[in-house]
Amino acid sequence: MGALCDKTTSFIGVVLVLRYYRDMKIQIITLFPEMFTGVLGNSMLWKASDKGLVEYSCINLRDFGSGPRKQVDDTPYGGGDGMLLKAEPLVKAIEQAKANDPEARVFLPTPRGKLYKQSDAKRLAADEKGLIIICPRYEGYDERIMRWVDESYRIGNYVLTGGELPAMILIDSVVRLLPGVLGGESSAEIESFQADDITIEFPQYTRPEVFQDLQVPSVLLSGNHAEIEAWRATQNYPAVD
Ligand code: ADE
Repeated sequence: MGALCDKTTSFIGVVLVLRYYRDMKIQIITLFPEMFTGVLGNSMLWKASDKGLVEYSCINLRDFGSGPRKQVDDTPYGGGDGMLLKAEPLVKAIEQAKANDPEARVFLPTPRGKLYKQSDAKRLAADEKGLIIICPRYEGYDERIMRWVDESYRIGNYVLTGGELPAMILIDSVVRLLPGVLGGESSAEIESFQADDITIEFPQYTRPEVFQDLQVPSVLLSGNHAEIEAWRATQNYPAVD
């Protein structure tokens, strides 16, 4: 499996044979590497690594903890609920990731970051620089790690229990845009359906023509490609918020 993120592994680099494209290294700093096994080990994300277009690895933050319990968190100065991830283990993990890939950029998913958009995914995929993604847990992190962070982002206006799910969303959105990942579709074709950071897709149908009492729009059965394109253009709108 190309996506090697499991409990026992702090870093497994897989040297892959490069065929047509340079592979993108994606390193994930997390306390829960096993969360990534299913997501990175299936479907397009797995295929991308199997083809040598991307290389995933997890760095287990616990390995950089201090004391016999490998502590990575502590209480906040000034009081408050919960625990914060300490700066020292996070920075040590980032430094290891940077040693593996000095050009890589460091990302921090946080509800305080800027809203992550399709244009960010396009920029990161085109850039082809490696990604180092930190996955915070508990009630947050020591703010001083921001010196080592290039970009922080939020995936929506809600709060999750940690950075793993946002990291997976970032990875999925970038990897699908890497040249060669989506088989027959060129990125230019994909991009033609993306405007102003609103990604819009027209409704689609497959057999049968009638399902229960629901009919496939007749224009799609017409064989008239100009009319089909025109109809699809009228359907390209996102749901109203
Ligand atoms: N961590 C917790 N909630 C988040 C969000 N909405 N976006 C990014 N990171 C987060």
